[in-house]
Order: sequence, then structure tokens, then C-alpha cells
Amino acid sequence: MKNIVILISGRGSNMEAIVHACAQRQWPARIAAVISNKADASGLQFAQARDIATAVVSHKNYASREGFDAALAAQIDSYQPDLVVLAGFMRVLTDAFVAHYDGRLLNIHPSLLPSFPGLHTHERALEAGVKVHGATVHFVTSTLDHGPVVMQAAVPVLSSDTPDTLAARVLQQEHVIYPQAVQWFVSGQLQLAESCVKAPGSQLLMLRGIE
Ligand code: GRF
Repeated sequence: MKNIVILISGRGSNMEAIVHACAQRQWPARIAAVISNKADASGLQFAQARDIATAVVSHKNYASREGFDAALAAQIDSYQPDLVVLAGFMRVLTDAFVAHYDGRLLNIHPSLLPSFPGLHTHERALEAGVKVHGATVHFVTSTLDHGPVVMQAAVPVLSSDTPDTLAARVLQQEHVIYPQAVQWFVSGQLQLAESCVKAPGSQLLMLRGIE
């Protein structure tokens, strides 16, 4: 049985999708804890209602990134994680933190990396006029929004899109690819060789649409 620790900062809809998939698909894993850097992250209530352990490590209580990351890692490690899942966790992590979880730290980013790392990805995709956008699950490395790609979901960008409609289309697919990627990890089916990930199934989900 693998232990999964999920880190959130907000509503936690990706966390919810992973919790549901873990239960419904009977993964050889348990959600050991959901941890947030924000006490008011609404996703914490979802976890508590399902008797999942929760904890808050507020970045505001630490003078440095190093201090916060060390406290966060101590909290995470108390649950003996095999996998740490960043699900809308809005903090930049130190190299030491990333190295500590090397090969067992996943993130989801709302763009088709390497396009649009960082914030406001949907606005930037619309500004750039791209016709395909999406989301990426990747192993975390010390470069922000970088690292070996586990799975991507591609969605069409429509001329009628606003950042909100595009975000909603992408988020729906995030809820498909993140549980899939975590499932592959906990069942030991992901192989990482020279920064390339091999998975037992298709690593690309395409939502087709023609205007
Ligand atoms: C998602 O779009 C995710 O890709 C990004 O932050 C958002 C988090 O949403 N990293 P939620 O908290 O999982 O609902």
C-alpha cells in the first residue's frame, strides 16, 4: 500500500478527483494526508469530511523559503509518503525540497508545457492566439513548471473563449489525466529514463473540436 500526500492551496478539485479515483479504482494506495499552506483552503473541508488527515503549514510563519520548506517536508514526511502530489499548490519550492522528493513529486500545470510556464496561463494562451491549449502532469525538477512529462491533455481554443471558459475546458481534462498519472505511479508502471517518462498507456489525451 503506497502512501500519497497531496498539497493544495485552494479549492482542491484535482485533489478531489484523485481521492475519488483512489477509492473507486481500488488503487494499491491511500491518501495519507492533504496539506495546505493556507488554513482557509476550501479543499481541506472535503478531505476532513472523508476522514483524511489534514494539516496546515502556513508560509507566513516562516521568514525564509528554506525555513518553510523544511517545516513542510517534516510534516509531509510524518506520513511516510511514497508520492507527493502538488495539486494547485501555489508556492515556489526550494531546490533542497525538490531534491528530497526526487522521482516522487508530481505537479499539474494548466498549459501544454513547455509553453506558458508560470501564472495566468489561460489569458496568455488567448493573447498568443494558440489554437490548442491544455494541461501537463510532470515530475517536478528544480526549474519551475519544468520536468519530465508524464501526461498531457490537449483541448481546442475557440474564438469565443474567455480565460474562464478556457480554464473550465482545461480543468475538466486535468481531472482525467492527473488521476491517471497518479494511478500509473502507485501501480509501479511509470519508468523514468534520461528525463523521459514511459507509461503503460497513451500519454496524450486529445479533446477534439472544430469550429
Ligand atoms: C489547476 O488548474 C492546476 O492545474 C493549477 O492550479 C489549479 C488548481 O485547481 N496548478 P484545483 O485547486 O485543483 O481545483
